[in-house]
Amino acid sequence: MDLQNQMKKAVAQAAVDQIQNGMILGLGSGSTAALMIEALAIKIKSGEIKDVVGVTTSFQGEVLASELGIPLKSLSSVSEIDLAIDGADEVDPKFQLIKGGGAALLREKIVAQQSSAMVVVADDRKKVDVLGAFPLPIEVTQFAYLTTVRELSSLMNCHVSIRMEEHKPLVTDNGNYIADAQTGPSILNPVNLENQILQIAGVVQVGLFNNMCDAVVL
Ligand code: 5RP
Repeated sequence: MDLQNQMKKAVAQAAVDQIQNGMILGLGSGSTAALMIEALAIKIKSGEIKDVVGVTTSFQGEVLASELGIPLKSLSSVSEIDLAIDGADEVDPKFQLIKGGGAALLREKIVAQQSSAMVVVADDRKKVDVLGAFPLPIEVTQFAYLTTVRELSSLMNCHVSIRMEEHKPLVTDNGNYIADAQTGPSILNPVNLENQILQIAGVVQVGLFNNMCDAVVL
């Protein structure tokens, strides 16, 4: 196993060690979150953690967690999530995040918003002083996506492109496209930028997670 993967495994394990019996958990997406799901499944199997229920943030996470025998519920059927554990693409010193590298930002944000606490698991490459070196993912409707891309590009004064997969636009679990904005490391006021982006009608959600993350395990 390479060093990067070892680090991801270690942070995933450290986050799982925070889980208490009976918790309702938000299970994030991405490679680090997948390692966390695997570590959780081992603890459930050994009886070290009891009576937990997971709410997944992507189809991929749902398949993995159910294959590993983690009891799952839909978000609509639980009143609140105790702890969401998820990965991130960038984390700034105030724990503001860029997420959506895996195109799951909408479900991740809905789950994070319903959680009493959010812990991010990430390797130390994700730590930045200013957000934006990682292209900012924005989920947009398929309808008029080029108009939305133009609006986003003019708002942020940068190149914005629709994410492709096998020569076709990537379609999210929610049937939308992802626009990636090449802002560069210049997002000094992520709260303001999030609000401005959400004003554009074709935008479904933006991968800026502001004031949501309580702790980061690096
Ligand atoms: C998916 C995400 C992921 O959590 C993020 O991309 C980090 O993934 P990884 O742990 O594989 O680096 O936001 O939408």
